[in-house]
This record gives sequence, structure tokens and C-alpha cells, in this order.
Amino acid sequence: MRYYPTVGENEQKESEVAAMFDAIAHRYDLLNRVLSFGLDRAWRRAAIRRLGEQKNGRILDVATGTGDVALATLQLEPMEIIGIDIAEVMLMSAQQKAARKFPGAPLVFMQGSAERLPFETDSFDAAVVAFGVRNFSNLDAGLRSIGRVLKPQAPLVVLEFGQPEAKPVRAFYGMYSRLLLPRIGRALSGVTGPYKYLPASIQAFPHGQDFLARLEGCGFEDTLAEPLTFGIVSLYTGYATEGDHSD
Ligand SMILES: C[S@@+](CC[C@H](N)C(=O)[O-])C[C@H]1O[C@@H](n2cnc3c(N)ncnc32)[C@H](O)[C@@H]1O
Repeated sequence: MRYYPTVGENEQKESEVAAMFDAIAHRYDLLNRVLSFGLDRAWRRAAIRRLGEQKNGRILDVATGTGDVALATLQLEPMEIIGIDIAEVMLMSAQQKAARKFPGAPLVFMQGSAERLPFETDSFDAAVVAFGVRNFSNLDAGLRSIGRVLKPQAPLVVLEFGQPEAKPVRAFYGMYSRLLLPRIGRALSGVTGPYKYLPASIQAFPHGQDFLARLEGCGFEDTLAEPLTFGIVSLYTGYATEGDHSD
């Protein structure tokens, strides 16, 4: 298996994406810190603030990876956080980290896909996806599935890489992600593919108003897009509607 998924939405993407993340799981947290110059923590904190008051709530972290968002969400004192992901080795890392840092915390990690969430309809008070939606094999199916398991009016918060508007930032970011990022990624993880896939997949992914239109088309309302760090990352919020969840 090559560790370089096809960009865009398609059926074989799920297994390719899982294999790619499992191949870099041992270095994933370090790579995040280094490649984002440490900004990834601030981006995740901003996402968690957007979840609002969740004391005693039930929160779903979709595409949880090594669990950093799920762990940071504990500060909201929810009743339970479930982190779900398709990549087994990423989840093992999440589990080990949770046991080491927060033994006994109300955290559950499980393997599963965003497009086919194995939960009851209207069973979560909030959901978050950090740097995951770009990798879904079917974006609309993933968003609809999240909308189904959320209670009406519950927030979905999405963090995803965007495309900076300002030309100088765009030029710098373009050079960084094409030239430097794959080299640093390979040096730290031992594989090149993921860090070539990253800029290509960001380029191909809908951002800003285009992403909000997808969210709304999948049944979310009161949607909002907020650029973070010159638009390198976007923070999206939408609220689940009652909707017909029969499909
Ligand atoms: C870039 S990582 C983000 C991990 C974590 N949320 C974070 O902020 O560090 C993307 C994660 O999305 C997961 N993923 C991709 N497609 C998925 C899907 N369809 N359902 C569930 N997880 C998925 C991958 O396995 C990977 O762990």
C-alpha cells in the first residue's frame, strides 16, 4: 500500500487515509507541533471555545487521531467524550496518552468512520472535527452522519486548513507547504507521501463560503467561518437542525 491517498472524494480513500495516518502515528504529535510552529494547540483551543458550555454534555470528536482535541475538551467538564477514527494505530496512541495524562477521565476511543457513525440519532450535545473533514471519503455523507447523531441545535465545530487571502501570506505559505513541509515531514516521519498529500488535498478542498454551503446543504444552520492565523486555518461552526434522518 502506498502512503499517499488520492486527493478528492472516492471509495478507496478510506483505507488509504487510514494506512497513511497509521504509518506516521508514532511521530504525528511531534510533526504537528513542528510543522505548525506550535500553533496547532491554539487552533484546537479556539475550536473548543466554540463548542460553548458543555458541562455534563456528551461530546463527539470525529477523526480524533491521537486524541489531542478529545483530551483538551475535558476542560469543559462533559459527562463523556467519544473519540472516533478509522486509523487503528492513531487510536492506540490516543488511548495511551489518555491513560497516562488523564487516568479515569470520561473518555472513550473507538474505531469507526465519520460516514457511518455507530450511534443513536440525537444522542450528542456537540461534535468537533479537527483537520479531519478534508480526508473524508465522502464529505456530505460524513457531515450528514454527524448531523444525525447531534441533538437539534447542538453545535458542530470544524477546524480545517484554508487558503490565505493576503497575497504575501499566500505566497509564503504556498512555498512552505510545497518545498519545506514535505522535506521536514519526511525527515521526522521517514515517509514523504503524507506531506505531499497535505498541500494537494488542501488545494482541492472547499474552503470559506464554499465549505459553509456544504454544511448548510447537509442540514446545518447559523453557519459561521472564522479565519485563524491569516486564514491558514479556518474555524467553522454550524448547528444541527431537526431534519429528516431517514437516509
Ligand atoms: C490530520 S488527522 C487529525 C487528528 C486530530 N483530530 C488532530 O486534530 O490532531 C486526521 C484524522 O482523520 C482520520 N480520518 C480520516 N477520514 C476519516 C473518516 N472518514 N472517519 C473517521 N476518521 C477519519 C484519520 O485517520 C486521521 O487520524
